[in-house]
Amino acid sequence: MKKEKLLDLLNQMTLEEKVGQLIQVAGETFLMDDVDTTTGPLKDLNLSNEMLYNVGSILNVVGSEKIRKIQDEYLSKNRLKIPLLFMADVINGYRTVFPIPIAQGCSWSQKVVHDCTRVSIKEAGAAGTNVNFSPMVDLVRDSRWGRVMESVGGEDPYLGEVFAKTMIEAYQGEDISKLGNAAACVKHFAAYGAGEGGRDYNTVDMSEKEFRQYYLPAYQSAIREGAEMIMTSFNTINGIPATVNQWLLRDVLRKELGFQGVVISDYSAIEETINHGVSKDKKEAAYKAIMAGVDIDMMSSVYANNLKELVEEGKVPEEVLNESVLRVLTLKNKLGLFENPYGNTDEEREKKILKSKENLEEARRLSAETFVLLKNEKQTLPLEKNKKIALIGPYGNNIAILGSWSMFSDKSKIQTLKEVLEEKIGSENVLYAKGSEILREKEMNQILSADGGNIIHIENEEEKEKAYLEEAIEVAKQSDVIVLAIGEHYRQSGEACSRANIEISQIQQNLLNELAKLNKTIVTILFNGRPLVLKDIAEKTDALLEVWFPGTEGANAIIDVIFGEVNPSGKLTMSFPQATGQCPIYYNHYNTGRPHINNIRFASRYQDIPTDSYYPFGYGLSYSKFEYSDLKISSKKISQKAPITISVKVKNNSNLAGKEVIQLYIQDLVASNVRPVKELKGFKKVYFEAFEEKEITFEITIDMLKFWNEKLEYKAESGEFKVFVGTNARDTKELKFELI
Ligand code: BGC
Repeated sequence: MKKEKLLDLLNQMTLEEKVGQLIQVAGETFLMDDVDTTTGPLKDLNLSNEMLYNVGSILNVVGSEKIRKIQDEYLSKNRLKIPLLFMADVINGYRTVFPIPIAQGCSWSQKVVHDCTRVSIKEAGAAGTNVNFSPMVDLVRDSRWGRVMESVGGEDPYLGEVFAKTMIEAYQGEDISKLGNAAACVKHFAAYGAGEGGRDYNTVDMSEKEFRQYYLPAYQSAIREGAEMIMTSFNTINGIPATVNQWLLRDVLRKELGFQGVVISDYSAIEETINHGVSKDKKEAAYKAIMAGVDIDMMSSVYANNLKELVEEGKVPEEVLNESVLRVLTLKNKLGLFENPYGNTDEEREKKILKSKENLEEARRLSAETFVLLKNEKQTLPLEKNKKIALIGPYGNNIAILGSWSMFSDKSKIQTLKEVLEEKIGSENVLYAKGSEILREKEMNQILSADGGNIIHIENEEEKEKAYLEEAIEVAKQSDVIVLAIGEHYRQSGEACSRANIEISQIQQNLLNELAKLNKTIVTILFNGRPLVLKDIAEKTDALLEVWFPGTEGANAIIDVIFGEVNPSGKLTMSFPQATGQCPIYYNHYNTGRPHINNIRFASRYQDIPTDSYYPFGYGLSYSKFEYSDLKISSKKISQKAPITISVKVKNNSNLAGKEVIQLYIQDLVASNVRPVKELKGFKKVYFEAFEEKEITFEITIDMLKFWNEKLEYKAESGEFKVFVGTNARDTKELKFELI
C-alpha cells in the first residue's frame, strides 16, 4: 500500500479506532465463543467489547491455525479491516530451542548467532509471528541480575554492537514481508542491565558519558541496521522511568539516532510509572508516555481508557496520536498484512519445518560451539570411549535444559545426557545416579511461592538426600571417570530471577565434595544462565565444561564435545567473579589512583579475595594448544590519514584441529578523562589444522580510539596507546603506538 493510502486510512479512523491501534493485549480472548464474557487479562484491562475489535496487536499467541482464527474473527468485526499484528517472545528458539543468548554470544561467532536466530525466526514466522521481541542487547555487568542470560553481547559494548547487527540482519533480511523474515524489536531501551545491585527492574543512575560510551552502542547498532521496533525498559534513567523519558525517547532515540519505527512499552510499564511515583494516575501515565513517544501500550489499560479523553481535552495534540498510529500502520504495511493478513503463516509449512531434522542438526552443531571449557587438567577431556562412566547429578537425566524463555518449545524428543551417553558408549558402560536435587525444598519454594501457592513438598527430604548420596558414591566407586552434571535450576535465571548469592546450591556442592574424596577423575558439566562463583567447584574437578542452558539438542552437543568429535571453542562474554561480593565485575573497568598491583595495604582491593575475576572475559580453553608470538605493528605512529595494522603469529601446537578466538584490545594510556584498562576493539575466530601456524592481522583505526569526554564530545585524543592481542582479556601480548 502506498503512503498516501495509509494516510487516507488514518483520516477515516475515529479516535477510538486510532487509540485501538496503540493497544496490545494477550490474544486468547479472540478464541472465545462469546467475547462478552471476558475474563482474565481482558477484564483486568477493562476493555469494552467494541474496543477489543480495535486493538492493534496481540502478545504471545503462536500457531498458524490459532492465528488465522483470531485474525478472521477480528477482521470480521473490525470496521476498516486493519489486520492485527502478532508479536511474540521467541528468544532462543521456537519449537527447536537453541542455547540461551548469553551462550550464543560465547561462540564469538556471528555465523553461530546468525544461524540460531535464522532458524528460530523461520519456525516462528511459519507459525505466524510478525514481530519478535528480540534481540535483547542490554549491556550486563552484574551476574546477580537474572537476565544476563538474555544478553548476547554480555559485558562488552563492542560485542553487543556486533551481535545486535547480526541478529537484526538475521531476523529482518532485506524485506520483512518475505518468507522466513519478521520484524525485530530491540529491547530494553535503555540501560536495563544497569539496575542497582543487580536487582531486576531497579533504578539506573549513571552519567550521560557512561551511558553513551557503554550502554547505547548496541541499541544504536540495531537501529542502524534497520530494526523496526524498540521496547522501552522498566527502569528509571537518572530519575525518569525510561517509558516516559522524553530525553531518551524523543531526543536520543528519535532525533539523534533517527529511529522511525514503532516504540512499545514493556509489559504494563506505562502503568508502573504510577508506582515509580512520577504519574499520579493512569491518565497522567498515558499523557507522559504518549508525549515521550511510546506508540504501543503493552498489556495495560492506560492508553485504552485515557488517550481519547486526553485528545478531546486538547491535552494531547491529535497530531501526536496520529504519528504513533501511522507508525503502527506503516509497520503492518511493510509486513504486507493489508494484502495478506496471515503473513507468513502456513500450516503445511509449519508442519514441515517445526523441529525438523535439519533444524535439530543445526541446533546440535550450533550448541556445541557455545560451550566454554573452563578447566582441563592433564587433558582429562576428551574422554576415551572405552571407559566406564559414572554419570551423576540432577542434570544427568533431565530435560529441563532449555532455559527460561522456552515457553513455545516442543519438549517431546528432548534427549537427556543419560540417554545419549548410553547410545554413545553402550548402557553397560554407563552407571547413573541422580546424586541430589538441584535445590532443597526450602530453596525451591522460595522461588515457587511467588507463583501464588505453587510449591513442592519432598517427603523425608534428609533421608532421601542421604540415599541419593550413597547411591552416587557407590556408582562412582565402580567407574573409571565421573561425569557430574550440576547447575542452576532453570527458574534461577531469567526475568525476575536476581540472586544475592550466585553459587551452586549447597546440596550439589556437598555431592561434589563427597565425590572428590574418592580420588577419581571428575568432569563437571555445568548448566546455568549466568556467571557463577566456581572456585570450590573448579578446585575439586579435573575438567569443567560450561554448557549454559544448551537447548533441545544440548545433550547430543555435550557428548560431541566431551568425546572430542567437536573441539570446544567458546569464550566467556562475562567475567566470572571470585565471590558474589565482587559483582559488578567487568574487564573494561577504569583504573583507580591506587591500583592493586602488589600486595600492598592501601590499595583498591578486597582483603579477603583477589581483585581479578576468577575466569576473565574472553577466557575459554580448547583441546588444541594455541601459542602466540611475533606481535608486530606496521608503524609506531597513527594519524587521521594513516591507519596502522598489528599482526601476530598464532600456532596450533597440537595434533588436533581447532578454532581460536584471537582478541584485540586497546588502552588509552593518558587522556583528559579516565579510560578503561583495556577495551575490546576486534576479534577473529579462526580455524587451525593440527600444527598449523597463521599470521593474524588487525587494522587499527582512529575510530577505535575515540571516546565520550565530559563535554559529551566523541573524539580521539593524541598521545600514547597500548595495544594487546591475546587469547583472553588477561593473557595478552602488548605493544605501544602513538596517535599524532
Ligand atoms: C519482558 C520483555 C518481554 C515482555 C513480553 C516483559 O516482562 O521484560 O522482555 O518481551 O514481557 O512478554
